Amino acid sequence: MEKTTVKPSPPPSQPTLNLPWKTRLLLSIISTATDAACRKNGTVNRRLLNLVDFRAPPSSKSTNGVTSHDVVIDPIRNLWFRTYIPTNQTHSDLPVIVFFHGGGFVFLAPDVVAYDAVCRRFARKLPAVVVSVNYRLAPEHRYPAQHEDCFDVLKFLDDEENWLRSLKVNVDLRRCFLVGDSAGGNLAHHVTQRACEFKFRRLKVIGVVAIQPFFGGEDRTESEIRLEGTPIVSLKRTDWTWKAFLPQGEEFNRDHPIVNVSGPNAVDISKINFPPTMVVVAGFDALHDWQKRYYEWMKKSGKEVYLYEYPTMCHAFYIFPELPESRQLIDQVKEFVRSVSVQYGDVTMLGNNGQMG
Ligand SMILES: *[C@@H]1O[C@H](CO)[C@@H](O)[C@H](O)[C@H]1NC(C)=O
Ligand SMILES: *[C@@H]1O[C@H](CO)[C@@H](O)[C@H](O)[C@H]1NC(C)=O
Ligand SMILES: *[C@@H]1O[C@H](CO)[C@@H](O)[C@H](O)[C@H]1NC(C)=O
Repeated sequence: MEKTTVKPSPPPSQPTLNLPWKTRLLLSIISTATDAACRKNGTVNRRLLNLVDFRAPPSSKSTNGVTSHDVVIDPIRNLWFRTYIPTNQTHSDLPVIVFFHGGGFVFLAPDVVAYDAVCRRFARKLPAVVVSVNYRLAPEHRYPAQHEDCFDVLKFLDDEENWLRSLKVNVDLRRCFLVGDSAGGNLAHHVTQRACEFKFRRLKVIGVVAIQPFFGGEDRTESEIRLEGTPIVSLKRTDWTWKAFLPQGEEFNRDHPIVNVSGPNAVDISKINFPPTMVVVAGFDALHDWQKRYYEWMKKSGKEVYLYEYPTMCHAFYIFPELPESRQLIDQVKEFVRSVSVQYGDVTMLGNNGQMG
């Protein structure tokens, strides 16, 4: 028997995953820790995770031009958020970024060091008031706990005048953006959809930023097969997290509209006044094809949607500040927020008259 051992090498024009060794090392530590914590019986070993899970406290002293503090909404379900406020007071009214962190609905939180730093960067660079939500996690809490928690934060922001006053900066709740990565991108989409059908007093979601959103299905897409072995996302991990997240009795329903957002049970959003949406995808993210389908479906539904491609990056690349692409993404979000705000400029000016609300 003859065996061929020569592997065809990719043509030189093909992009390659371009990461410094330090980032690769961090990514492999994250992947190893999560794999070790996901038990076969569907539970998570949180005690093990806590060993590698470094947290940052809020800081009322300005760090890099931003202060932060935590606000508890409901202690029973541990629903709270961390607010980030730029200290440079020369800005006029700031938009609000409601941020949903990633982690497959199972992991992480606003006070995890990497997310704390990301939100601080958004607050300073856009600039904006950032509200980063601590939603409940699966499998201890299954869908719709996460989506409900995030929506309840919007209601809280709309209702609580005291919260607004406590910020001591001018905030324009009519310029609210929902931003999230991975599972947080899924939340950003679905929570916006719900917000579109709800009557807020003042708050208005005028833009969505879905960074490498976590969508899926039973189908194995081309990118899921080809990119097996790239950082963070793998079929084994996504299978595990969907099963941990979906409600009991529906653990295997990958055509659930929350998962397969553009699939057979998709909500018809063509009649909904869905705000402009920015979708970020990366060439070495196994979820790439699902995200592209999401983008195509949004376009087909007549929505204003923009695709930002990072051919040489992997899942979650933007939480690594050492990557130039991470800075580039923040700049693109800044430009998106600016241009959408201008689009709504008339609304913002009308009725403003120098006072809030
Ligand atoms: C799952 O396994 C862990 C560790 O073996 C155990 O402590 C836990 O009780 C199990 N949970 C269920 C629901 O089977
Ligand atoms: C403060 O904000 C103004 C206006 O946005 C900007 O021109 C200035 O550079 C900022 N200052 C600092 C220290 O960031
Ligand atoms: C999910 O949706 C896609 C269309 O985006 C479809 O091709 C696929 O069959 C659906 N279902 C599953 C379980 O993957």
